[in-house]
Amino acid sequence: MKITSIVIFFITLLASVVKSQRACNGHAEFCDRLYSDIAYVTTHNAYAVGKQASANQNYNVSMQLKDGVRGLMLNSVFPDDNPKEMHLCHVSCNLFDAGPAVNTLTTIADWLNENPNEVVTIIWDNSANVPTSVFNDIYTQSGLDKFGHVQEVANWPSLAKMIDSGKRLVNFINPPSDGSIPWLITEFEYVFETPFENTNPNAWQCTIDRPKGIQLPLYVLNHFLYSSLLPPFSSGGEQIELPQPGLANVTNSASLAGHAQQCQQTFNRIPNFVAVDFYDQGGNDGQNVFSIVAELNRVKNFQNIKNAAQPSGSLSTVDAIIGLASIAMFAL
Ligand SMILES: *[C@@H]1O[C@H](CO)[C@@H](O)[C@H](O)[C@H]1NC(C)=O
Ligand SMILES: *[C@@H]1O[C@H](CO)[C@@H](O)[C@H](O)[C@H]1NC(C)=O
Repeated sequence: MKITSIVIFFITLLASVVKSQRACNGHAEFCDRLYSDIAYVTTHNAYAVGKQASANQNYNVSMQLKDGVRGLMLNSVFPDDNPKEMHLCHVSCNLFDAGPAVNTLTTIADWLNENPNEVVTIIWDNSANVPTSVFNDIYTQSGLDKFGHVQEVANWPSLAKMIDSGKRLVNFINPPSDGSIPWLITEFEYVFETPFENTNPNAWQCTIDRPKGIQLPLYVLNHFLYSSLLPPFSSGGEQIELPQPGLANVTNSASLAGHAQQCQQTFNRIPNFVAVDFYDQGGNDGQNVFSIVAELNRVKNFQNIKNAAQPSGSLSTVDAIIGLASIAMFAL
């Protein structure tokens, strides 16, 4: 009986120590690490979900966040028939229209509210030149505006600092906004990108594509594959390049690890935004974007694709300890 109480005391103590260990984006190691020193699983055209040939993802933004995606690439466009309501569309809303942007932003706001220890990044492609005031309106409507991080100094804060301040959403935009919203950050002042028009699965590059040749503190590793300009049908005279879901298991495994490693050597630091299509797809050797990003970050891979609800390592450790406790009590 006495031994039982001692065992229970120790197990409770251990469990509370583990539980009190803080996790930032699921990892205790990330709390003191600077935002700019971390790699984030990032979805290219995060909103383009579905069975259409032009879809880039299999799961929607709420599933992406649940699964551990922390960077979302979005495109802001006005549909031809609605020049007031900003939608998430691929180039043109005739090609892919994921509906009003405010809906997806509300999903992100809800998720951030439910997950107070998480930092998320949105990278806007605003080549359609939606006015800055529209971003202000829909961020306010969706409740996302209160999370907007403002970058005022050269160094990026640690994740813990961002979480403590409540400013847990970094918003990059390209081309630059009119500057009237302090949290809408010009992407190419802080972030460069490797080439994004990749059609050859054996020729991934580690060059600075945008802004041309300028090294900046953070970078996007673009690792998604388009068809080699086929099929040659066109939309408004423009050639359409299609994503390659059938090859995603190859693209998102050893090929991704190799590309990331090569760029890490070239630029002497890890990529920050590891951008992929079909993030849920990985190789049959168990490698996928989550395991590869965990390796870049030198942390254990706790995230599992296909929504294995395991937000952080400490929780599963607690479960393990509680499990052990039951066994110990049973044995005694
Ligand atoms: C996202 O997908 C999940 C699973 O398919 C579904 O349950 C959920 O309703 C979807 N959310 C939205 C906002 O469409
Ligand atoms: C990708 O899928 C194909 C077809 O199912 C399979 O033959 C191949 O071995 C897979 N490759 C990897 C790296 O998983």
